[in-house]
Amino acid sequence: MKLAVVGGGSTYTPELIDGFARLRDTLPVEELVLVDPAAERLELVGGLARRIFARQGHGGRIVTTSDLDAGIEGADAVLLQLRVGGQAAREQDETWPLECGCVGQETTGAGGLAKALRTVPVVLDIAERVRRTNPGAWIIDFTNPVGIVTRALLEAGHKAVGLCNVAIGFQRKFAGLLGIAPVDVHLDHVGLNHLTWEMGVRLGGPEGEDILPKLLAVHGEAVAADLRLPRHVLDRLGVVPSYYLRYYYAHDEVVREQRTKPSRAAEVAAMERELLKMYGDPELAEKPALLGKRGGAYYSEAAVDLAASLLGGAGNPYQVVNTYNKGTLPFLPDDAVIEVQAAVGRSGPLPLPVPSVDPLYAGLMADVTAYEDLALQAALRGGRDRVFRALLAHPLVGQYAYADALTDQLIAHNREHLAWA
Ligand code: G6P
Ligand code: MN
Repeated sequence: MKLAVVGGGSTYTPELIDGFARLRDTLPVEELVLVDPAAERLELVGGLARRIFARQGHGGRIVTTSDLDAGIEGADAVLLQLRVGGQAAREQDETWPLECGCVGQETTGAGGLAKALRTVPVVLDIAERVRRTNPGAWIIDFTNPVGIVTRALLEAGHKAVGLCNVAIGFQRKFAGLLGIAPVDVHLDHVGLNHLTWEMGVRLGGPEGEDILPKLLAVHGEAVAADLRLPRHVLDRLGVVPSYYLRYYYAHDEVVREQRTKPSRAAEVAAMERELLKMYGDPELAEKPALLGKRGGAYYSEAAVDLAASLLGGAGNPYQVVNTYNKGTLPFLPDDAVIEVQAAVGRSGPLPLPVPSVDPLYAGLMADVTAYEDLALQAALRGGRDRVFRALLAHPLVGQYAYADALTDQLIAHNREHLAWA
């Protein structure tokens, strides 16, 4: 089996390699190609990747290249984990929305729209090249904003599935609190990427007992502290929102905080410098603990499971993925991309049925779905008016004066990445 990772020079890659090494019985990778235009970084990351494989006795070959077409040739699956414009562009996304009193975040709100506009054309170009070189390959998209990017890929007819680590993170967290194995925790995970709620926590599988009320009764304090939301909010919801919901439920509080501290991009950039220094050490042959401070913890395990199932191997029977709604959430259009539990096999993911959703959540999902639709139109076709429409539709923007100001800022800060601007 051959896999290609586009954006393979990311400092995150050792997390992926560690997962491939530990879980090689689930996903027997013979060749792994790390593709990245940043040659120097790629060599550092590739060197550590080879040492991790060697230390763990993994016989797979690791190849590094800056030639996309050569890298994806013959791959059974292509993982996308790229960041157009790097942390510098992210820093902008996290900063200029604050001037309008709006959250500065890389995937939520106006910053997320900027990221979508930069990213969708690049990802579609890569996907087109994959289709030309090996039309059968699966595309696994980790590239944010995952909901919009996955929808772009699916609308263009690609064999694509979107993936995020939020669900697997909750699965680990809850398993730890309950003192059971993560595989025994099944989440009723419902929503859109970075806009999800754990509506049930079941033992053993989708038919298992829902122990969420008990979990909240005993561990509500710990869960709330983790999400940085007051305990009473969790108790009143009775479900567990992802930490991205804090940008909605505590929007103004987050904006106040963001105004007084360095951006997450700046923190991450500092960590990346540190990590790259470590990766250059020929003695290092494991993923460093510092990588655990990144948001993407466990994403390797989600990737292994998904790739294994798509390629006919032994991944978990149910996985949380991003795919077409197709009636799963009846209040959303069929072609919305949702993030839910699905049965995954060689022909792709098939969402499990979702019980009726409280309007408290369905309303926000519908709003953000409309925004994502308009955001994709803006990413595909460009134009100030399309950007404005997407921002006006976003529940965290909503007012014309803000939408106008944010549109100007978005375009001014992203001109070099927007062909039409
Ligand atoms: C979580 C999200 C990812 C996101 C990451 C950011 O893992 O699911 O989509 O990329 O956080 O983490 P960072 O360490 O870059 O802030
Ligand atoms: Mn994510």
